[in-house]
Amino acid sequence: MKLSLLGGTTAVALLSGVANAATPDDWRSQSIYFLLTDRFARADNSTTATCNTEDGIYCGGSWQGVINQLDYIQGMGFTAIWISPVTGQLTEVTSDGSSYHGYWQQDIYALNENFGTSDDLNDLASALHDRGMYLMVDVVANHMGYAGDPTTVDYSVFNPFNSQDYFHPYCALTDYTNQTMTEECWMGDDTVCLPDLDTESTSVQDIWFSWIGDLVANYSIDGIRIDTVAEVSKDFWATYNEKAGVYAVGEVDNGDVTYACPYQTALDGILNYPTYFPLVRAFESSSGSISELADMINSVKSDCTDTNLLGSFSENHDNPRFASYTQDLALAKNVLTYTILADGIPIIYAGQEQHYDGAEDPANREATWLSGYNTTSELYTWVAKMNKIRSFAIKSDDGYTTYNNYPIYQDDNNLGMRKGSNGSQIITVVSNLGADGGQTTLTVSGGGYTAGTVLTELITCTSVTVGDGGDISVSLDSGLPSVLYPASKLNGTGSPC
Ligand SMILES: *[C@@H]1O[C@H](CO)[C@@H](O)[C@H](O)[C@H]1NC(C)=O
Ligand SMILES: *[C@@H]1O[C@H](CO)[C@@H](O)[C@H](O)[C@H]1NC(C)=O
Ligand SMILES: *[C@@H]1O[C@H](CO)[C@@H](O)[C@H](O)[C@H]1NC(C)=O
Ligand SMILES: *[C@@H]1O[C@H](CO)[C@@H](O)[C@H](O)[C@H]1NC(C)=O
Ligand SMILES: *[C@@H]1O[C@H](CO)[C@@H](O)[C@H](O)[C@H]1NC(C)=O
Ligand SMILES: *[C@@H]1O[C@H](CO)[C@@H](O)[C@H](O)[C@H]1NC(C)=O
Repeated sequence: MKLSLLGGTTAVALLSGVANAATPDDWRSQSIYFLLTDRFARADNSTTATCNTEDGIYCGGSWQGVINQLDYIQGMGFTAIWISPVTGQLTEVTSDGSSYHGYWQQDIYALNENFGTSDDLNDLASALHDRGMYLMVDVVANHMGYAGDPTTVDYSVFNPFNSQDYFHPYCALTDYTNQTMTEECWMGDDTVCLPDLDTESTSVQDIWFSWIGDLVANYSIDGIRIDTVAEVSKDFWATYNEKAGVYAVGEVDNGDVTYACPYQTALDGILNYPTYFPLVRAFESSSGSISELADMINSVKSDCTDTNLLGSFSENHDNPRFASYTQDLALAKNVLTYTILADGIPIIYAGQEQHYDGAEDPANREATWLSGYNTTSELYTWVAKMNKIRSFAIKSDDGYTTYNNYPIYQDDNNLGMRKGSNGSQIITVVSNLGADGGQTTLTVSGGGYTAGTVLTELITCTSVTVGDGGDISVSLDSGLPSVLYPASKLNGTGSPC
């Protein structure tokens, strides 16, 4: 049955009680699974269809494919998905590959036919809303995409930006420390150039500001992820976010906390790149720096407006996967634990749960279907456990998603953190000792529990009694983290132990 656009939206709202236009507060408690539509699932449910990442061409994933695999995503405890851009793209196969990722748009009013029809995209939104889940869509406003060098652009292929007047005059973006150049010059190269929209002009602004509201309404979108945020002014984004009317998280691909955090004054959230780099460095080996990560927790807390509206991630399609640095499963589990239990909205990139190890783009865009969607793999079940712990904490403590996580213990290899209201705070200890790390016992103080309180270690479901002065004796086995929670609070439904 195909519903009309309006009928579909209304029916969803009535059936599931999930209101459209999800606010930042609605998003605090979500957990996001990020997928490239072309690479996650095919409509034929194939787990063998070839997808050679080096070729950089379409592999056949689609929105219907995603619908078919929602049990797989929800089975890990995710409550939202972020899908790659949906707009009409350049169609050429170039020596840099094709537009399967969606960042080379040409027609902002068309959908990418490789992924399905508008009915399919609406069906995906409905299928998510029926499960009480949210849809986040990736959007690009900085640029269009053209197969050719910047001198050859035929502007008439763009809809609606069909004349050079809509664009900044060509100059190459070569120096990201020059903010004027970053905002006004073009990205891309001579194979595929990225004509840079004049987002300071009212003609471009008028189009984008009405487009984003229409896109959100047309497809019942609950949130947006915004590409290349540092390449457009903060003023533009403040209005764009307002016109979207839903939570927006922006990509500011920069590890400098003093540079990245101010973008949160314009957008609801940004991807937590300042933490991403020290996070990966801390856990890629037992010589990684724990103190650098601990210091960054405090820097982000002081420089960003709201750490709990940042996107917390450890992998994505633009950076090498964690397993490309180390194959150690214990280290992968620690990184996942940090990503899900520290501040912010967790974002796990499709394939991370299958321990995929692709390094630089395009190697890190492997087809998820080739894993066979294994729901008993080590990291699939680990992610499920961490999401379960987080959602139980959120349900039991209405201060959890506004509380700022902070370090309470550190040594060369281990970091202890506290998050959650007094009396139901989670104590998480992560370690970079790795699977061969043997047995370690630490004394963690500053957890805020009084002597004699019985805590449950949530990974092993064993008891630990708080000692004199609030000291907690934490045992780490084979490099695995430890997560502690009051035993008396583990009595409701959804309890992780
Ligand atoms: C694919 O999987 C979905 C969901 O499990 C199922 O409804 C559908 O029939 C399958 N399609 C094919 C072609 O096997
Ligand atoms: C920054 O880039 C702009 C635009 O390309 C240029 O005019 C300016 O000279 C650059 N500034 C510096 C300090 O290089
Ligand atoms: C939204 O739908 C309206 C009505 O069908 C259409 O005119 C408009 O182009 C659509 N906009 C987007 C961004 O999908
Ligand atoms: C799924 O993963 C588990 C754990 O690694 C493994 O034992 C099992 O063989 C896998 N199943 C399939 C179908 O590959
Ligand atoms: C929570 O506990 C800390 C001590 O661990 C105390 O300083 C703080 O005032 C308490 N906060 C509330 C709201 O009770
Ligand atoms: C769980 O225990 C708390 C206090 O320890 C109590 O207030 C609450 O009603 C219990 N919940 C359930 C579902 O038993």
